[in-house]
Amino acid sequence: LNLGILISGRGSNMESLFNASIDEAYPAKPRLVIANKEGAPGLETAKRFGVEAALIPHKQYKDRRAFEEALHETLTQHEIDIIALAGFMRVLTPWFVGKWEGRMVNIHPSLLPAYPGLDTHARAIEAGDSEAGCTVHWVSEGVDEGAIIGQSRVPVKAGDTPDSLAARVLIAEHELYPRALADACRMITAPSAR
Ligand code: GRF
Repeated sequence: LNLGILISGRGSNMESLFNASIDEAYPAKPRLVIANKEGAPGLETAKRFGVEAALIPHKQYKDRRAFEEALHETLTQHEIDIIALAGFMRVLTPWFVGKWEGRMVNIHPSLLPAYPGLDTHARAIEAGDSEAGCTVHWVSEGVDEGAIIGQSRVPVKAGDTPDSLAARVLIAEHELYPRALADACRMITAPSAR
């Protein structure tokens, strides 16, 4: 399947997908990376891996719909089959989600349904949780609410700060995302049971 990756920043999860896809047998081929933020370091990483990288700065569009139409058009022009959101920090409207329903996945740095939204690590520490982790899920209209494809757990350790916990979770993200995306690809391409 042709993979499109949407990023806003660093792109380390994107890079974990690139590395997995070096294996010929991996079910998704990264074809296009789109960033919504100028200067997103991940754009340079994509080019270094030889993947086409495009900037579609949301600020230059009159509203969310116009931005998403540009995204959609670029993705369809590149014949993208499946989208992976990887640190993409824009909420997508029901219009865009509807166009890509069942073909778009996201990684979130918490054990959903716990802690949707931002500041997940600070909230997990504040709550005194003994475990944290990350989730890959299908994207649905509700933010961080879609069906779960896979999760990975890490301990919260005494003295953890949001940054130290984020670093531990990020290692788990890099292992989980390629695996869960491959599972998602198999769900799309599997012959229907009926
Ligand atoms: C990751 O922790 C991801 O789960 C969260 O934002 C971070 C993005 O990191 N949504 P990167 O851009 O993939 O390095």
